[in-house]
Amino acid sequence: KASDRIEALLARMTIEEKAGQLSCFADMIRPPIGDINPLVNLRNAQTLLAETRAGRIGVLMNGMGTQGALDAQKAAVEGSRLKIPLLFAADVIHGFRTVFPIPLAESGSFDPHLCERTARAAASEATASGLHWTFAPMVDVARDQRWGRVAEGAGEDVYLGEVLGAARVRGFQGKDLKAEDSMLATPKHFAAYGAVTAGLEYNAVELSEATLREVHLPPFQAAFDAGALSTMSAFNDINGVPSTANKRLLTDVLRGEWGFKGVVISDYTADQELVAHGFAADDRDAARQAILAGVDISMQSGLYLRYLPELTASGAVPMAVVDASVRRVLALKEALGLFDNPYRSINDKVEAMRTATPALRQLSREAGGRSIVLLRNEGGLLPLPRSGKRLALIGPFAEDRDNVVGPWAFFGDKSLNVDLATGLRAAMASPTDLIVERGCEVETTIAGGFERAVAAAQAADIVLLAVGESQDMSGEAKSRTDIRIPPVQQRLAEAIAATGKPVVVLLRHGRAIALEGVVRDAKAILATWFLGSEMGNAVADVVFGAVNPSARLPVSFPLESGQQPFYYNSRTTGRPAPADPNGQEYKARWRSIRNDALFPFGFGLGYTSFALSDLKLSEARLRWNNTLHVTAKVANTGPVHGEHVVQLYVRDRVASRTRPVRELKGFQRVSLAPGASREIRFDLRRDNLMFLGDQDRWVVEPGVFDLWVANSSIDGLTGSFELLDS
Ligand code: IFM
Repeated sequence: KASDRIEALLARMTIEEKAGQLSCFADMIRPPIGDINPLVNLRNAQTLLAETRAGRIGVLMNGMGTQGALDAQKAAVEGSRLKIPLLFAADVIHGFRTVFPIPLAESGSFDPHLCERTARAAASEATASGLHWTFAPMVDVARDQRWGRVAEGAGEDVYLGEVLGAARVRGFQGKDLKAEDSMLATPKHFAAYGAVTAGLEYNAVELSEATLREVHLPPFQAAFDAGALSTMSAFNDINGVPSTANKRLLTDVLRGEWGFKGVVISDYTADQELVAHGFAADDRDAARQAILAGVDISMQSGLYLRYLPELTASGAVPMAVVDASVRRVLALKEALGLFDNPYRSINDKVEAMRTATPALRQLSREAGGRSIVLLRNEGGLLPLPRSGKRLALIGPFAEDRDNVVGPWAFFGDKSLNVDLATGLRAAMASPTDLIVERGCEVETTIAGGFERAVAAAQAADIVLLAVGESQDMSGEAKSRTDIRIPPVQQRLAEAIAATGKPVVVLLRHGRAIALEGVVRDAKAILATWFLGSEMGNAVADVVFGAVNPSARLPVSFPLESGQQPFYYNSRTTGRPAPADPNGQEYKARWRSIRNDALFPFGFGLGYTSFALSDLKLSEARLRWNNTLHVTAKVANTGPVHGEHVVQLYVRDRVASRTRPVRELKGFQRVSLAPGASREIRFDLRRDNLMFLGDQDRWVVEPGVFDLWVANSSIDGLTGSFELLDS
C-alpha cells in the first residue's frame, strides 16, 4: 500500500533526510538560464548532485532536458541511502519550448476549453523534458494594472479566474497524475498577491476579510476542487501577517476549512524574507515560523536543511509537524508514480518526438488568434485585403522576435518565434507590399528613425503601428507607476498619424494600457498582448481575416493611468458618478474625467455583429431552493460567421453590506453563421448570490437582484427578480 511505503520510509529517515525532502533548490545541473537570483544560489551542479546523494534535496526546480534529469535522478534513486526519487519542478507558465499566449491574453478568449488544451500541451512538452511539477497557474485576481504580474493570471474578475484556473489545472494534471505526461499544478500565490498596495511588487496587502474571501480566495478553491495538489505561499503579507508565516491561511483555512491534502511550497526564499519583513528575528526563527504555519517545502533558502535538525531537537518544532510535511511530500511523489517509475518522462527519444511539434505550433497560433481583442474598427477598416494595398508596418515591435513571447517563458525556444513582419509577409500575396520601419526603440529614439517611419507611412495606403510594452516591462518585479505606452512611441505615433494615413494599432502589452492621443483615437485597434511563439502568424490571421477576432477584455482599459486600481465590479458609493459626463457635482468622479473605462471588462468586437434580445426569466420571484433560468436570444446580424461571448451579470440591490455594481456570474461562447440565431440559457441559484456578511459569515439575503445578459460589463438586456426567503 502507498501509505505503508511512506510510513516505512518515514520510520527510517533521519531528521536531515526529512529536511532534505522539504527542500527545493534551483536546478543548476541542467539550467536553461542562469539562476533567477544569483545572490541566494550557493549551489553549483556538483554540490547539488552530492547533496542529492546525501539525501538532502527533495525537489529541483527550473532545469530542463532529459540528460541532466537522468544524472540527477540517478543520484537520488541509486546514490542515496533511502533511494527516494527527486521531484523536478519548473515555472511552465504559458508553454515550455513552444510558447502560448501569456495567461492574461489567453483569458481574453473566455474559453476554458482552450486554456485546458494549452495547459495540456505545455505539460506534454515539459514532461518530455523530464519535468513533473509546474508552478502554475497563477490565479491571483489582479485589479491594479500597475502590478507587473497581471500578465500571468486571468485578470480582474473572480468568476473568470475560477473557471479558467480550474481549466488550467485540469489541463496540466490530465486525467491521471501517474501518466508520464501529467504535471502537478500549483495555483499560486497563496494568497492575495494580486492585492499588493499600489500595484507595487512584493508590497504589503491591506485587505478586509470580505474582500479576501469573496475576491482573492475563490479561484484557489476552484483550482483545488479541480484537483490541484500543491500551492505556493506568497511573498506578501496580509494585514501585517506574511503569507509564508500565516497559520490561519495555510493551515486553518487551507487544510481545516477546505480539506486541502496537497503540499505548500514557499515562494523563492519567502521563508527567509520573514526576517526582512520584521516578522522573524533571524533565519532560525523564520524556518520555525514557516513550518509551524504550514509551509511544507522551503524554496531555495535552505533554511529547513539548516535549522530543522536543531529546531526539532530543542522541541521548538514538534517532530510530528515535520513528519506531517514529509508525508505530504512523499504522497505527492507517490501520486506521480515516482516510486515505481522514478525515470518516468526521462527518455530522450520521447523528448525529441514531443518537442516543438507542428501540432504544438499550430495550437500556439490558434490560441494567439483566439486571444486578440478587436477594440475598434471604424468603417470596417479591418480585415485588410491580402493584395492591392501597400502596408507600412511601423514601430519597435515590427520586426522583433525577442518580444513576442512575454514574461515567464525562459524555456522557450527562441528559434520558433515569429515576429510581425514575418507573419504578415507570409500571409500577403506580394510580400514586397509590406514596408517595415522600426521608427524608435521601445523607450529611446533611433537616429533618423522618425523620418524613415514617416516616409514609409507616406508611401503606404495603410499603416500598421506596432507599439506598446516590451516583455521586460511586465512580469515579476515589473510594476509600473504609469501604464501608458512609453513617450517616445507616443511621439512616433503622433508623427505617423500626421500623415493622414489610416492607422491600425497593433498593441503589445502584458496588462491593460491607458491609451492616449492618436493611439487611442486610431481607426482600428487590436489588443495583441504577447501571444507566444506564433505571434506574427496569429496577428496576420486576424489582420487579414482568416480568423474573426472573438476575444474579450479580461481587464478594464481605463481612461487614464491614475484611475488604478480600476476594475468593473467595484462597490457602489453613496454618490455615484453623475449621468452627465461633464457634470461636476460632488460625486464620485475625477476632476478631469469620469471614473469610466475606455474599453470595459468583457468588451471586444469582431468582423460581424451580434444582437441580444428576448430576455426571459423563468420566475420573477425565485424560491429559496429553486433555480432561475435566464434565457435570451443571440443573433449574428453581420456579414460573416463569428463567435460571441454572452455574459451574465448580477447586482444585489439592497444588502447588509454594500455590493459591487455588477458581478459576472456566467458566460457562454456562441458560434453563429451570418443570419443565424440561438437561445442561450444561464442558471442561477442562491449559492451564486452569496457574500460575506455580518461577522464574516457567508450569507444570501432575500430581496431584489438586477441582472444583465450582456456583451460587456457596461451594457446588456436588463431584468430583475426577487429572491424569496422560502
Ligand atoms: O514560481 C515562481 C514565483 O511565481 C515567483 N518567484 C519565483 C518562483 C519560482 O521560480
